[in-house]
Amino acid sequence: MSLYAIGDLHLHFQSELKAPSQLRDKVWQDHERKLAANCAGLIGEEDTLVLVGDHSWGKNLEECREDLEYICALPGRKILLRGNHDMFWDAKKTERLNGLYEGRLSFLQNNYYAYGDYALVGTKGYCFEGPFYLDRYGNIAGWDEAEAAHAEKLVAREIERLTVSFDMARADGFRKYIMFLHYPPTNILQKNSAFTRMAEQYGAEQVIYGHCHGESRFHDSIRGKKRGIRYSLVSGDCLRWHPMKVMD
Ligand SMILES: [Fe+2]
Ligand SMILES: [Fe+2]
Repeated sequence: MSLYAIGDLHLHFQSELKAPSQLRDKVWQDHERKLAANCAGLIGEEDTLVLVGDHSWGKNLEECREDLEYICALPGRKILLRGNHDMFWDAKKTERLNGLYEGRLSFLQNNYYAYGDYALVGTKGYCFEGPFYLDRYGNIAGWDEAEAAHAEKLVAREIERLTVSFDMARADGFRKYIMFLHYPPTNILQKNSAFTRMAEQYGAEQVIYGHCHGESRFHDSIRGKKRGIRYSLVSGDCLRWHPMKVMD
């Protein structure tokens, strides 16, 4: 039994592709076929695959139907997290999605899933992405204060949701956690955040996130071990469509 993670498939079997970089960059060419082949060679039916959001470009559930069917057809148990582009997933209607896809997909939001004696907890997360203002040397000299204040509100809401996830698992007796986010845990200016503090407070062993696309963004946040926690970026293009093994 093994646990794997990947994110940001940005599927568009039925819907319009909205990111020009997905058309241009070679890593995205035929990525659905590459991922399916890699999963088939790696993941067994007893394994679990967590997909950390940005599943589909579809604007609603109907436009995402084939994208979600593609994910259903991947091997193993599939657990999905919400990404910023997942318009089909209203956070308040997660139970409905879990009902619709019962036995095929599990949607992680204000709940948790067991993996052996670990609890898989998570939420979309959030981090301030600018605008940043640069000086003539290209160094960050300031940022949009109003946007930063708005970002703080969104972070607070996501922290509430993550607390629900951790506390439900803890109430059920879990003491070991793997924490999943869609957004990176810190922005490019931060060393710590409400999310890293939360991971430390609950003793999460790993924090796994996506959202960062393209070589120039792969090191926007923490990667590797920090204060005993392993941080991993698992966006599909970063992993070149090979799911990362989180643990056996
Ligand atoms: Fe993405
Ligand atoms: Fe994203």
